[in-house]
Amino acid sequence: MPKPDKLIVKIENIHKAYGKEQVLKGISMDVSEGEVVVLVGPSGTGKSTLLRCINQLTVPDSGKVWVNGVELTDPKTDIDKARQHIGMVFQDFNLFNHLTALDNIMLGLIHVLGMKKEEAHDKTMMELKRVGLANKCSNYPGQLSGGQKQRVAIARSLAMEPIVMLFDEPTSALDPELIGEVLMVMKDLALEGMTMICVTHEIGFARDVCSRIVFMDHGEIVEQGFPDKMLNNPDLPRTKQFLGKISGLH
Ligand SMILES: Nc1ncnc2c1ncn2[C@@H]1O[C@H](COP(=O)(O)OP(=O)(O)OP(=O)(O)O)[C@@H](O)[C@H]1O
Ligand SMILES: [Mg+2]
Repeated sequence: MPKPDKLIVKIENIHKAYGKEQVLKGISMDVSEGEVVVLVGPSGTGKSTLLRCINQLTVPDSGKVWVNGVELTDPKTDIDKARQHIGMVFQDFNLFNHLTALDNIMLGLIHVLGMKKEEAHDKTMMELKRVGLANKCSNYPGQLSGGQKQRVAIARSLAMEPIVMLFDEPTSALDPELIGEVLMVMKDLALEGMTMICVTHEIGFARDVCSRIVFMDHGEIVEQGFPDKMLNNPDLPRTKQFLGKISGLH
């Protein structure tokens, strides 16, 4: 359950342009501990850019971002260290194809966190078990289904013990029959109290799991609110039109 007293992510007036294109036009957003925010909006609207601005994979032109009280936009902040606590899962998994599932996960534990090999191995096996893949630990990505690859990618993030998880369309590259297993892992995470910001158009997940839907269009937050309200009775016609369209697909 969200604890409104503890802010995990604070975004304040973020602007980002690419050339003449204003991609983010002053986005502000607070995410409390345990909240699951689903971010939706048309293609090209700046959803990925916003997620990337949170962990500074994309550096905003102006505005500030705090994660767990640390200002990531402060040039004095050790960004590599701060990023260790921000899990990010992408549409295309970003696994190393020449490494097994086990080694993909152990890599960060050993080289980033400085864990001993044995400890990293145990931790990795625990995380693989958590996503239901302990039996696939020796498989290379090429020997895993898309859904399994994505679950390995999630386990890799979780192994770093993130304070927040960012998901950028984690199921949109998957065959329909594989989507459910990834959403199930995400749902379990949410139930365990993980703070999550998810770009996804899986409306069932949004309806059942998230605490807030944020609708973005043209680089701005148009409307946000409880899933029930946003899906059934949003204030603005634009929200209704967009959410109506995507929920019709599912
Ligand atoms: N590195 C970049 N260089 C130039 N333009 C970029 C870059 N990254 C994003 N953009 C532009 O910024 C806009 C927003 O892109 P972004 O990927 O954030 O959208 P999105 O809402 O995630 O879209 P989608 O739903 O298709 O993933 C797009 O017009 C895109 O072309
Ligand atoms: Mg995107």
